Amino acid sequence: MDTYFKYANKHNKLSKGTFKLENKHLHFHGIDLKHLIDWYGSPLRLIYLPKIGSQIEKARSFFQSAIDLQHYPGIYHYCYCTKCNHYAPVVQETLKHGAHLETSSAADIDLILNLHNRKQIDTYRFILHNGYKTNAYLSKMQSLRKAGFQNTVSILDHKNELKQLSACSKEPIKIGIRMATNLSSGSNSLISRMGIAPDEIFSFYQNAIEENAQFELKMFHFFVDSGMENSAHYWKEFEKALDLFTKIKTRCAGLTAFNLGGGLAETNQRDDEIEALINEIVIKIKIKCERENVPAPDIFTEFGQFTVAESGAVLYKVIEQKNQGKEHLWYILDNSLMTGIPDAYWLDKTFTVLPLNRWNQAGRAVHIGGLSCDASDVYKTGGKNRKVILPAINDFEEDALYLGFFYTGAYQDAVSGYGGIKHCLIPSPALLIIDRDKEDHLLISRIKQNHTKEYLFSTLGYNPEE
Ligand SMILES: Cc1ncc(COP(=O)(O)O)c(C=O)c1O
Repeated sequence: MDTYFKYANKHNKLSKGTFKLENKHLHFHGIDLKHLIDWYGSPLRLIYLPKIGSQIEKARSFFQSAIDLQHYPGIYHYCYCTKCNHYAPVVQETLKHGAHLETSSAADIDLILNLHNRKQIDTYRFILHNGYKTNAYLSKMQSLRKAGFQNTVSILDHKNELKQLSACSKEPIKIGIRMATNLSSGSNSLISRMGIAPDEIFSFYQNAIEENAQFELKMFHFFVDSGMENSAHYWKEFEKALDLFTKIKTRCAGLTAFNLGGGLAETNQRDDEIEALINEIVIKIKIKCERENVPAPDIFTEFGQFTVAESGAVLYKVIEQKNQGKEHLWYILDNSLMTGIPDAYWLDKTFTVLPLNRWNQAGRAVHIGGLSCDASDVYKTGGKNRKVILPAINDFEEDALYLGFFYTGAYQDAVSGYGGIKHCLIPSPALLIIDRDKEDHLLISRIKQNHTKEYLFSTLGYNPEE
């Protein structure tokens, strides 16, 4: 077979500006990853902060261009959905770029209060509260309002939440309504458990909100779980939400915000496709509002994966190659894939996999396995047991092969978490946060180490050794 380099060129593996091959090593956002491993060891997880800011600016510029082009009278607001990646440097980076925040739980608000105490977030930001409203969550929302946050919106996921909100405070509260969407197209499609069924929303508004002086309905929210994309399913749910928004808007002047939720994924859509999609969204809202003779709303999004996915990577060393018969060569990595990139296991998600070195070796089709003893700890590329082309390893001692799994910045840490009891007690990789200073020099900090034995003992309740 050709060298891996030739194979990679033929299949446009380096076509995205994110990757480059320099001095025989793969560079990610201009960083030599093999050097990083030489310095910090393997396995290694990293987050490259500047990519987060550039994603926010990109989405904002797409919406602003569409707004200018269509002479759209409303404003666009970018919110970051914090559950996607909670690390302080990540959330701080989004704030630096003017993002507003979306929360899902009581602990999310604790993080915001902590940032507020450190004067790292101003009280004019929009803080949108989605998710199931437990008593603890409701009480934290109140703490946030008491701390002076003027633009918090509690988005009703359930009709009962109105009573719950009222029970915990008698002060005026800004609210939103979340419309439940269908999870896929087709007549048998399941309706999401999140939000209120579309056919109940208007009567709920009339009966419980319209005459209720405590609540100010500000926002209409929907989120198509399968993604924000140019598909018949997306537009169907979008039109349903827009119909309901304008219907309520004719009776509710204070309803000024239309929230599209998250779901924008860049890895499977090109920039020009995203730009066209956003333009279409803006056109559709404008036309509908003109037709119904209501003012056009401000547009909100809550992008999670779009904000952070591309900033992340996990790097591994291949520690073993094992032939299981002629057809099946396995590369075994120095950590668990099941816990390192859980979406590959649970959701059959495909990540970009590239070698960090040895691009001049012949390419070879291999299976990739993690270090735990679980049969499922394998990389299945989209749910199928397909092989991945990677450089052949002739001499293990001479020059080890390292692999990177890329675009792992969204949800992987949130689902798997750093620390805790990992599968087969294989510890989480160390975590690097990488930034650049004004002169474009790299600033690298290792914010998490590999776990120590003491950490494991205390987590599991063993007595520390004398
Ligand atoms: C209410 C809400 N908004 C936004 C998001 C972010 O979605 P994504 O990461 O697909 O942008 C989620 C994710 O689950 C969500 O539940």
